[in-house]
This record gives sequence, C-alpha cells and structure tokens, in this order.
Amino acid sequence: MKLPVAVLVSGSGSNLQSIIDRIEQGVLDAEIKLVVSNRAGVFGIERAKRHNLPYKVMLHTDYRSREAFDQAMVDAIVEAGVGDNGLVAMAGFMRIVTSVFLRAFEGRVMNIHPALVPSFPGVNGQADAADYGVKIAGCTVHFVDEQMDHGPVVIQAAVPCQAGEDGNVLAPRILKLEHRVYPQAIQWYAEDRLRIAGRHVELKVAGRPCARQPKADIEPETYALVWPPLEEGF
Ligand code: GRF
Repeated sequence: MKLPVAVLVSGSGSNLQSIIDRIEQGVLDAEIKLVVSNRAGVFGIERAKRHNLPYKVMLHTDYRSREAFDQAMVDAIVEAGVGDNGLVAMAGFMRIVTSVFLRAFEGRVMNIHPALVPSFPGVNGQADAADYGVKIAGCTVHFVDEQMDHGPVVIQAAVPCQAGEDGNVLAPRILKLEHRVYPQAIQWYAEDRLRIAGRHVELKVAGRPCARQPKADIEPETYALVWPPLEEGF
C-alpha cells in the first residue's frame, strides 16, 4: 500500500522534485495525491504538471483568515485521498499553518528546514547561519507543531561552512542534502518506523542496508563532522 502524500509548495519545488524522483525510481513507497501551492506561477506547479500530478493553486489572499485558508487546504487534501493515514509534506512552503490544519493531520505533517534547528528558524536559515559565522550548517526534517520550525526532529544533515561564505553559497550545498534526507524521512514514515515521543522521534529497526548502521555506542571519530578539519596529530 503506497503512502498517500500531499506536498505543499510556495516556490521552485526542488524538494517536491526529489520526492517525485524517488517515487519514480521505485525507492519511495508513496503516491502524491495532490500538490498545493499558495502562490501562482511557481515552478513547483510546473513540476506537478510535467509529472501529471493533481495540483491546486490556493491563494491565501483569497481567504478571510488563516484558519479559513487552512480549512480550505484541509478539505482539498482530504478530498484528494490523504484523509485518514496519509502524510502532508511541506516542501518550501512559506506559511505557518494553524491548529485547524494540525488538528486535521495530527502527527502527520512534516517540514524541511534549511538549518539545524533549533538554530536559525524562519525564512532565511541559510543566510542567517552564514552571517553568524557558523562552521557547520545543515538541514532538518521535522514534524510540524504550532511553533515555526520547532516540532520533533526526524533527521538532520550537516555541511561545512567556510569563512566568508554567504547564504548564496551555503544554500545550494544544503539543498543537495535536503533532496536526500526528505525522501528518506518520508520513506521511514511510509514504513511506519517513526514513533514520536514528546520531543523525540524514534526510528524503528533498519529496513534497507545503510552505510552506517545507527548504533548505540557512537564512536565520535566515525560519525563526527569537524570543520575546519583537524590537522595531523589532533
Ligand atoms: C529550500 O531550501 C527549503 O528548505 C526552503 O526553501 C528552499 C527552496 O525549496 N524552505 P524548494 O526548492 O521550493 O523545495
């Protein structure tokens, strides 16, 4: 049974594309039932068209309140077949959803944020990290709760950030990892291997082989990303 998924976009939709690609490669056991954009004319909708996916442009400016807009999205997503057990994947979706939306899809809304939460929430995560002068940046897939970029974390990926690099350099480096970790997180959900316990998300035993089996005794040397890199003798 393929996991029914609705994908919410507001722009280019490259994360949507990575989900489409993994589905078409037969790696992700999901079916995109609907793509929703809150903005017209975005490439994310073009990507849906190119892959013959159902899509809706729902302009939040057409609704009298956030709650009314969210209810309209809920109705469209349920109508599309993501009602009882599907997943809503926010992918470059630039709006905060209200409890109207979250109550309708309790524990079934994921988001990808281009920073290592809780650091650098908001719409400029990459630039904020670069401007802060971090040496390690990255991205986070998390379940969505009522606070922005705050819900329980599913997976994170880290990349180096060099002195003098700005958000324009960092964003594409992070984006490459977003495109890998988001389909992975959705596949874990599709396999029913994620358990939310308060702020924690537990991943049940591994299904497919992976390069580094999650182990209890994590040797720092094996898993650590240190930047700038340590030099000989250290
Ligand atoms: C991505 O970095 C995403 O994390 C952020 O917006 C950027 C563009 O996303 N929210 P996409 O190409 O529209 O998926």
